[in-house]
Amino acid sequence: MEVERVQAISKLSMSINTIPYEFIRSENEQPAITTVHGEILEVPTIDLNDPDGEKLVGLIAKAGSEWGLFQIVNHGIPCEVINNLQKVGKEFFELPQEEKEVYAKPQGSKTVEGYGTQLQRELEGKKGWVDHLFHRIWPPSVINYRFWPMNPPSYREANEQYTIYLRKVADKLFKCLSLGLGLEEDAMKASIGGDDIEYLLKINYYPPCPRPDLVLGVVAHTDMSALTLLVPNEVPGLQVSRDCRWYDVKYIPNALIVHIGDQIEIFSNGKYKAVLHRSTVNKDTTRMSWPVFLEPPLDQVIGPHPKFTGKGTPAKYKSKKYGEYMYCKLNKIPQ
Ligand code: SIN
Ligand code: FE2
Repeated sequence: MEVERVQAISKLSMSINTIPYEFIRSENEQPAITTVHGEILEVPTIDLNDPDGEKLVGLIAKAGSEWGLFQIVNHGIPCEVINNLQKVGKEFFELPQEEKEVYAKPQGSKTVEGYGTQLQRELEGKKGWVDHLFHRIWPPSVINYRFWPMNPPSYREANEQYTIYLRKVADKLFKCLSLGLGLEEDAMKASIGGDDIEYLLKINYYPPCPRPDLVLGVVAHTDMSALTLLVPNEVPGLQVSRDCRWYDVKYIPNALIVHIGDQIEIFSNGKYKAVLHRSTVNKDTTRMSWPVFLEPPLDQVIGPHPKFTGKGTPAKYKSKKYGEYMYCKLNKIPQ
C-alpha cells in the first residue's frame, strides 16, 4: 500500500487553498486558538564555552530543572558543519518522490529508521503536517547505511562531520547535568549507557500549508530520549508548554536547542524535567528541523539514581529497560 506523503498533499493543498479534513485539529489543539500571541518565550540561552565552569553548571542545572529546554551558543560546532548538514538534508527532501521512497521505512519493520510519514498513533486519527527521515548516526555498530541517502553524494560526509562535533557537545552537557545534581561528572552518562548511547537523527520536513492556524506538525509530547539536541532551519515553529499555555520559542541563528528527555527526568527522580513541546507549520515556507535523540541501548535499565531516593523521598518513577519504556509509551500503556 502506498503511503501518501505530506509533501505531495502540500502541493495539492496549496493549489486549491484548502487542506484535507484529517489534518484539522480539534479546537483544544489548533495553534491559532491555543498559542499565546505576541509573546515569544525567552528560554535560557547558555554560552557553552563560558570559562567559568561552576557558573556554567549552575546555569545548565537551573535551565534543566526550571525549563527542561534551553538553547546553547558557542557550542563549538562550526557554522559550516551545521549548514552542510542542513543543505544535504534539504537536498534529499527535494529529490523526486520515487528516489526518496527507496529509503522508506519497510512495512512491519521494528526499527524507526527510514523515510516516512506519521509516527504517532494520534488521538482521533489526526495527522501531523510533516514527513521525516530517521537513521542512527552513532555508534558505528548500530549504523545502518541502508537508510542514509546516497544522494546528494556528500550526505554521508556531512552527517559524519556533524556527528563528530555533536558527540563533544553531548559529553559536555552530560557532565554539566551530572555535576548539577551533585554527582560525579561521569555518573549520568554511565547510567544512560556510556559509550553505547545511541544517536538517532530525525529530519522533520514540514512543507508549506495553506491553513497553518488549524494544523500541527508534531503533536504535543515529551521526548523519550535522555537528551535531544536539535538544529532548526530559520523558519520558527517550535512551541513549548508553560503553565498550560503554548509559547513560540525564539529562533537564534546557529544555536542548538537542548531538550531534557524522559530518561534524564527519571534518572534525576524529577529534579530535571522533560519538556512538553510541539511544532507548528508555515503558510509559505518549508520548515525543517534536525533533532538527534540520545538514547540508552534497549536493554539498559534506567531508574532514579539512589542518591535521590531513600527515607522520605520515594522513587517517583519505576526502573525499567529503555526498550520496555519505549514500548509502553508508543502503545500508551501507563508507565
Ligand atoms: C519534535 O519535537 O519532534 C519537533 C520539534 C521541532 O521541529 O522543532
Ligand atoms: Fe520532540
